Parts: sequence; C-alpha cells; structure tokens
Amino acid sequence: MDVTFRIRRFNPEVPGKNKPYWQEFVLKDVDPTDRVLELLHRIKWEQDGTLTLRRACAHGVCGSDAMRINGVNRLACKVLAKDVGERIQIEPILGLPVLKDLVVDMEPFFAHYRSVMPYFINDTAVPADGRERRQTQEDREKFDDTTKCILCACCTTSCPSFWANGEYVGPAAIVQAHRFIFDTRDEGSKERLGILAEPNGVWRCRTIFNCTPACPRDIQVTRAIGEVKLAIQRGSREGVISEGVGPIAVSNS
Ligand code: SF4
Ligand code: F3S
Ligand code: FES
Repeated sequence: MDVTFRIRRFNPEVPGKNKPYWQEFVLKDVDPTDRVLELLHRIKWEQDGTLTLRRACAHGVCGSDAMRINGVNRLACKVLAKDVGERIQIEPILGLPVLKDLVVDMEPFFAHYRSVMPYFINDTAVPADGRERRQTQEDREKFDDTTKCILCACCTTSCPSFWANGEYVGPAAIVQAHRFIFDTRDEGSKERLGILAEPNGVWRCRTIFNCTPACPRDIQVTRAIGEVKLAIQRGSREGVISEGVGPIAVSNS
C-alpha cells in the first residue's frame, strides 16, 4: 500500500524553516506490518536526510521515540502501519520545547523526575546475615506495576494539566515516586509524600485520565496517582493499596 505522511517540521537554524510547518512525504510499497519508526527511517534515508527524530532500541524498551501519531501519543517503534491507516500525521509530543522536528527538550521532564527522589533510601545497617533486604511477595506486588515505567513521557505530555502548567510534576514522576513510596524496604516515603503534597505535586492532577491509555507499558497511571493522593491524605502509605483507592478528593490548591 502507499502511505502519505504529514510531518510537523521545525529547524531553528534555517531561515524559512524556523517556524513550525507541515511537510508531506509519500511512501510506496509499504507493508501493513511495517512499523511507523521504520517508515520514518525510510523517509529520512530515501527522501530527506534532514528529518530529525530520536530513537534507540526500536523495540519499545528505551522510551526515546515518543511522538504524536494521528493525534495520540505513541512509541513509533510499537505502531504498525495497518493500525494507523494510509494517511499518518506525525508531531512532536506536546508541552516540552521543540528543538528540531520531532525532537523535544526532555530536561524539564527529567527535572520533575529527579525532584521526587527516584532512588532507594534506607540508611539502616544491612541484615546481620549479609543477605538482601527481604519483603513478602504481597508487599512486592504493591508497586509491581510502576516498576515497568521506561520514562518515555507519553503520559506527562498527554496531560492537559501539564500543558497548562509545566511546573506540575506530571504523571511520570508520580509513577516513579509510587514505585519507591510503596516499597516496604524504602525509608524515604514520608519525604516523597511531602514533595508531592506541594502545590505543583499530585493535586494538579484533575483525574483527566489521558495518561493511562497513553502509556505504552499499560501501567495504571491514574490509579497510581490516586494511591499517592490517598497516602498523602492519610499521612502514611500504610494500608492504602490493600484497601484499594476508592473515590479521590480533588484539592482546590
Ligand atoms: Fe511512559 Fe508509562 Fe512511564 Fe508514563 S508511566 S513515562 S507513559 S512508561
Ligand atoms: Fe493528567 Fe492523568 Fe491526572 S491526564 S490530570 S495526570 S489522571
Ligand atoms: Fe526505544 Fe521505541 S526506539 S522505545
């Protein structure tokens, strides 16, 4: 089949191309099972070498090729041509500064990630037998879902609250915080909950739900955010997940 791509272009260094514009490319003999990333490579290698995009693994692992495909945040390496049709519109993800074509500046996103202390904290001595810190399988399962995050930014850049206010820490950072907050071996949960209780923390989430279907790892993002909200309301992570989230009150802050 033939496929027409409509791609949002921008090059700050070239006069005439230093404002966003659309460009079309036609690809012939596309196999329905070709992935969108492969087709973008064909455009770059066969038609216009200046087309700029970010990618690495090509297998849905590194999270580097998030883009808007027909208006929806996806990883280009996970989308088949047959699933998006014969006209495919490609844009950079929203809410982050565009550097060139489909490449955005990820630094604001990673600054939010760093702000939630996304690392294991435990200053107590290791067990006397020298073995690893243990937890029950049930406790491990409490944060199993949020360990799957690959920091692709599909969730945060699909969130209207983030579009409206880039200071909002965003769903990806909350997912990363969740992974440690609910780890019974970690001792930094109170500090993280304090960070996320700040005005640009979890209460900026208005439960719009764009983030959950955007996640290529099928993480229950909105649920994780709800669990963090409940832990903040209670002042503790204890009992939050085993009891379920229930209705979440939305702060007016
Ligand atoms: Fe990407 Fe999902 Fe992680 Fe968000 S939660 S950054 S969508 S993998
Ligand atoms: Fe945004 Fe997801 Fe909350 S889309 S408002 S972070 S539920
Ligand atoms: Fe690594 Fe798509 S290129 S996730």
